[in-house]
Amino acid sequence: MLWTIFLLLNGLLILVLLYSTRTRKKNEPPLDKGLIPWLGHALAFGKDAAKFLAKMKEKHGDIFTVRVAGHYVTVLLDANSFDAVLNDTVCLDFTRSRNQLLKRIFSLQLPSMKPAAERKWMETHFQGLHLFKLSSSMNTHLQNLLLSDQKGCSPSEWRQDGLFSLCYSLLFRAGYLTLFERKDNTSTVYKEFRQFDSLLTKLARCSLKRGEGKIANLSRERLWELLSPDWESRESESNSWQQSYRHFLQEEGVDAEMQKRALLLQLWTTQCNAGPAAFWLLGFLLTHPEAMDAVKSEISRLTLQDTSLQHPHINPLEAHSTPVLDSVLSETLRLTAAVMISREVVQDKILRMASGQDYHLRRGDKVCLFPFLSPQMDPQIHQEPQIFKYDRFLNDDMTVKDKFYKDGKRLKYHTMPWGAGRNMCVGREFAVTAIKQFVFLLLTHLDLEMCDPEAKLPPVNPSRYSFGMLQPDGDLQVRYRLKRTQHEM
Ligand code: HEM
Repeated sequence: MLWTIFLLLNGLLILVLLYSTRTRKKNEPPLDKGLIPWLGHALAFGKDAAKFLAKMKEKHGDIFTVRVAGHYVTVLLDANSFDAVLNDTVCLDFTRSRNQLLKRIFSLQLPSMKPAAERKWMETHFQGLHLFKLSSSMNTHLQNLLLSDQKGCSPSEWRQDGLFSLCYSLLFRAGYLTLFERKDNTSTVYKEFRQFDSLLTKLARCSLKRGEGKIANLSRERLWELLSPDWESRESESNSWQQSYRHFLQEEGVDAEMQKRALLLQLWTTQCNAGPAAFWLLGFLLTHPEAMDAVKSEISRLTLQDTSLQHPHINPLEAHSTPVLDSVLSETLRLTAAVMISREVVQDKILRMASGQDYHLRRGDKVCLFPFLSPQMDPQIHQEPQIFKYDRFLNDDMTVKDKFYKDGKRLKYHTMPWGAGRNMCVGREFAVTAIKQFVFLLLTHLDLEMCDPEAKLPPVNPSRYSFGMLQPDGDLQVRYRLKRTQHEM
């Protein structure tokens, strides 16, 4: 018995040594294994990916390989070279890592489903007439919720809340009512979702503490039940997005249990980004009075134009362009959208950089792009990248500024909040419309101000880097009340 244990331990030690003895070969990116065997840089990466990768970029440049929990991850931070990764569907694959994450986070396995078929279904359902209907429904739900949340308060009475809670709760509930069938449990779903979402990054990294695993499992199970259509109710006969998605899953041969679980994945994908984005946008406006003035004056011109045209039923945002608000949104997303685009190297690959230099990528490794660091926070592309400049994406003639350069070369990707390539966000048009509708509604219907006029935006929760929109650590306290008239801005 003792001998068996001894031999097993020896075998394990040899494996650890074999893994830690990897050396950099000719033409490979700089290799940084970190000091801890096997784990390598896993702790620093998971704690604050942006800080860790910025440090590595400073040390090694635009491409390097790091060891993370037994895996070797090549990180590419030159936006001009991204296409070499995004366009390669032969040597690079994203389905295996995605499936692993789906299993870990959502306890979901969809072996029969072809990712291309799902993507196509999603694209069809977020464009054209579908998109128009979804956006109109979203607008109606936002208005109704905003007004019903104020019921019971006298018009002059101020209410206090955290801005993050206010934005997330309203946008989530309106999004849920727009896409999902059950209308009777919106607030319960929101509360449970926030609980689940607070543990999501730990679920993905397998770093749940004792006790947290049980909470995450219970929360997930509860959400599966809450999202299941209510067969007793006549609403289940509706022709909702959710019902159409379930039909699609059935056609793809997904069994009933996995259909139920897939709904939670879709709830997360469709609802986890817009609320936090709206929070940062309004937070930047509240802490940058010149930006708030510019947006308010653009909006008041819109509402005045519409009254004079006597088309009150048309949403002014659809009838007119809003270059200032668009620039504010792009700038907000530049500063707070932090997706990690990841691929698995399934065949050895030569990666040609825009500079002409070739790097060899080894089969079995991973390759990642982290657009938050570059292009979004790259000082060579965006001057003073840490600072919020509301007109960064505006030309002098009020057209969209989309020409940005690095090393004299115009960039194809100057900001990438929606990802890129085959995983690019399919809901981006819907999301942009929803966030703009929300900001428009809040600024036209509410008096909104910070409780402490000197307050600053809370810092970012660093564990959220890589997971899409960032979330704050803490909140910004605001007070608000219904305006007496809509034109009182
Ligand atoms: C500010 C808001 C949003 C941002 C920044 C955002 C960003 C992203 C990003 C970066 C991805 C790719 C994820 C990856 O590669 O792993 C993605 C995927 C996706 N997004 Fe969004 N998103 C937003 C809002 C929305 C909304 C409101 C919807 C729908 C209602 C939506 C629907 C989707 C879907 C369905 C996918 C999956 C696409 C696929 O798997 O091919 N997103 N989003």
